[in-house]
Amino acid sequence: MNFDQFSMAGKTVLVTGASSGLGHHFAGLLAAAGARVLLAARRMDKLLARIEELRGKGHDAACIEMDVRNGESVRNGFAQATEAFGMPDVVINNAGMEPGVFTYITLEEDDWDAVIETNLKGVWLVSREASRLWIEQGCGGNIVNIASILGFRQQKGVTPYAVSKAGVLQLTRQIALEGARYDIRCNALAPGYFLSSVSSALLESDANEAFVRSIPQRRTGEMQDYDGALLLLASEASAHMTGQSIVVDGGHVVSSL
Ligand SMILES: NC(=O)c1ccc[n+]([C@@H]2O[C@H](COP(=O)([O-])OP(=O)(O)OC[C@H]3O[C@@H](n4cnc5c(N)ncnc54)[C@H](OP(=O)(O)O)[C@@H]3O)[C@@H](O)[C@H]2O)c1
Repeated sequence: MNFDQFSMAGKTVLVTGASSGLGHHFAGLLAAAGARVLLAARRMDKLLARIEELRGKGHDAACIEMDVRNGESVRNGFAQATEAFGMPDVVINNAGMEPGVFTYITLEEDDWDAVIETNLKGVWLVSREASRLWIEQGCGGNIVNIASILGFRQQKGVTPYAVSKAGVLQLTRQIALEGARYDIRCNALAPGYFLSSVSSALLESDANEAFVRSIPQRRTGEMQDYDGALLLLASEASAHMTGQSIVVDGGHVVSSL
């Protein structure tokens, strides 16, 4: 076994949604594994603070403003990224949101659009731009999509989010199928629940205790629980994997009915 396959040295990685939560954490993980990291999101103040932190630790980091819902913003972001750092070798599609707890009946149209555009269309827009540039430059590329166990299972109150994440899993397989001839591969990481602004409505509510009891390992995730799977998918250690998803959830999706 060549453990160097897990190294990110010499790789440039773009992480969307890097201004908070998992993206903020993954930027640090990938930088520590040797990558030059490009952090993307809308809140530039948060990104600038994070790159200062990473540079302070001796890492190579830069940031770009990008709204993943908007094709022009995605194109401009890649143009800036390429100018600052060269074309990223790996793209982590991590940006995501949820609108609060509504059933499909009480949900408003704007909230449906916001979730689907951010969580699903955003992944397509970023993957399309990266792939067009990789093809133009005649090099391959690697896409890692952050899905969710809600792409596999249902829960009341999160219809557009669950639909968007099921879409991300299918988009992952479509990109893998169509991208392989260009040496572009694409896999997904599907986390269970961890505390962030996406999940705080549930995990900080009175319902949390009973909810955690439904997870076989009886706990939600910590950021570092996802490190092994992310590093596998982002690195050459997964060179022969494409179109797959890895679930990291303490057994939540296999919990009994
Ligand atoms: N928390 C969980 O339990 C859980 C479970 C499974 C999967 N996930 C997934 O994990 C990923 C990270 O979420 P998180 O839990 O870490 O939540 P978070 O802290 O709220 O992070 C979400 C990130 O997405 C960015 N973002 C949102 N809309 C965007 C847009 N239009 N353009 C660009 N960036 C945008 C936000 O940055 P700006 O606001 O600065 O743009 C932020 O950095 C998401 O895909 C989420 O669905 C979360």
